Amino acid sequence: MQYDVILPAAGSGKRMAAGHNKLFLELRNKPILIHTLEVFQQDEACRGIWLAVKPDEKAYIQTLLEKYHITKVKAMPNGGEERQHSVVACVKQIEDGQIVLVHDAARPFITIPIIHELVEAAEKKGAAIAGVKAKDTMKVVENGKIKGTVDRSSLWMIQTPQAFDFTLLKKAEQQAETDNFLGTDEAMLVERLGQSVYIVESSYENVKITTKEDLIFGDAILSQRIG
Ligand code: CTP
Ligand code: MG
Repeated sequence: MQYDVILPAAGSGKRMAAGHNKLFLELRNKPILIHTLEVFQQDEACRGIWLAVKPDEKAYIQTLLEKYHITKVKAMPNGGEERQHSVVACVKQIEDGQIVLVHDAARPFITIPIIHELVEAAEKKGAAIAGVKAKDTMKVVENGKIKGTVDRSSLWMIQTPQAFDFTLLKKAEQQAETDNFLGTDEAMLVERLGQSVYIVESSYENVKITTKEDLIFGDAILSQRIG
């Protein structure tokens, strides 16, 4: 089993409001970006990392890679306006991918067993994404009024990694570009082709660090894992 991973890291972290890219914020004295990179650095099945970055952050990120001995980064293309564009910038640089994962750099708590389950599922079925079952009661609301209650048993909250046969991912990105279609994740682009995408049950710990509260969750997860 082998794979390449695309890590979009070119966001601005508006909801975190840290005044700079939230990926540089530290948990246990280590930048969030490095926590994420270390998972893939340590995974022997990972051949290479493709990191989309903001042009003016590239030099700083390079110093972080050296400081923390991250050696698997193959390229750091410039990210785009939207996350999808950042992912496309990486896809365009991969020459001979077989299974390619897309993973938010802002999800530092992903684990190697979940990654491997996704890679195996993508090898067999072409496309597999991480998700967890919805926990809360789900309702449709319009203008402040409840319209109805949705059956929760079929609802999943989708995360990354999302794992794809590389030919399929490229085709999906190309079609989206032709149609000027912007999706909220890569799976949505593959679904548009009429291709089936499968779920791998992930962990509630695989949070995306998005707002200030997530730093508290993140610190608690690390306390539980490493004391
Ligand atoms: N990302 C990216 N390029 C963009 C936007 C986002 O590479 N144009 C990356 C982010 O760096 C992050 C991941 O996509 O690792 C998920 O995005 P999100 O959590 O939304 O991060 P930000 O866009 O930075 O945050 P916000 O939406 O609050 O501004
Ligand atoms: Mg964003």
